Amino acid sequence: MVQVDTNDMRSMVSAFPNLLTEISITPHVWKTCEKLREGRIDGICIIGMGGSSISGLYVQSLLQDSVSIPIINVRETSIPSYIQKDWLVIAVSYSGNTFETIRSLQEALKRKCKSFVITSGGKLHSIKGVNEEVTLPSSYQPRAALPLIFSALLNLVEILTMHRPTDFTNVSEKLSDKVANWEMSEFSPKSMAADLLGYIPVFIGSQHLVPVAYRAKSQINENAKAMAFSSELPEANHNEIESFNSSNLDSVIPVFLRSSYETDSMRKSTDNLMQIYEEEGFPLLKLAIRSDSKIEEMLMFTFYLDLVSIELAELRGVNPLSVDKITKLKSMQ
Ligand code: PA5
Repeated sequence: MVQVDTNDMRSMVSAFPNLLTEISITPHVWKTCEKLREGRIDGICIIGMGGSSISGLYVQSLLQDSVSIPIINVRETSIPSYIQKDWLVIAVSYSGNTFETIRSLQEALKRKCKSFVITSGGKLHSIKGVNEEVTLPSSYQPRAALPLIFSALLNLVEILTMHRPTDFTNVSEKLSDKVANWEMSEFSPKSMAADLLGYIPVFIGSQHLVPVAYRAKSQINENAKAMAFSSELPEANHNEIESFNSSNLDSVIPVFLRSSYETDSMRKSTDNLMQIYEEEGFPLLKLAIRSDSKIEEMLMFTFYLDLVSIELAELRGVNPLSVDKITKLKSMQ
């Protein structure tokens, strides 16, 4: 069992590598997956909001090129009309009390979809008619539970789609090694946070780093209470590129997440985009991390940028734990 102080965001984020190996799919859940597989599964629909939704985006981008059924993510109060009884719906809510997630799951149950929930408790825990639950340890912040949720969700979807389940032990060890190097290097999360201070970062990613850029934006928003955005290549080359002009030079900083697995055309167009932004005078940041696989690359970036968000919170003098406005809005629903 990992020792984590759940009243301290830095402690939760630091535990990222260890949390990846904390949840295993029980033989009982594994059997249910096998049973469901014997029937028909038209597609997998992952429901969740905020910190609980990111893992679904990661899973979709990792598996979409190697599985034979669609994997979609829903981040709202209803599910598309084509989600019917032969779809498998996985509702992810760390607290188990998120209105949109509960509503969408209830709709799926009405349509007689097969369903799993991943939660630490709350209302989701007691909804009748769900096929299986993967129970998470309680008292984390939802966004800090990403390694717990992601490892469980990926393994679940892998089993359901007959994909070889990822062994997180190796990835976890590599992440632990990396963090020691980062702390000592000139690219430490602290120095990166100092580079972002006073700017609005736009995290730019392509392919499997699109959801990673989105996660970075969300972590800066929630932990550091700072404006941040993310954008997706190549789409941003067709619109957002025009907004990177001299009127934003003092406020915006583009942060490019570069992958070792970029296709040739993506590499070329991203290099060109960086050149254009540089010529415009932007102080751009380029991040690249050595890894042995896409999943490793995604998780290393995520861990690093999570740490950056904590450092930025400290530099800004804010508490990364509190999410007062999210809580207030939820209480108004
Ligand atoms: O990180 C957070 O606290 C939020 O983004 C939550 O994840 C979001 O509000 C949804 O709540 P939950 O993850 O409990 O479903």
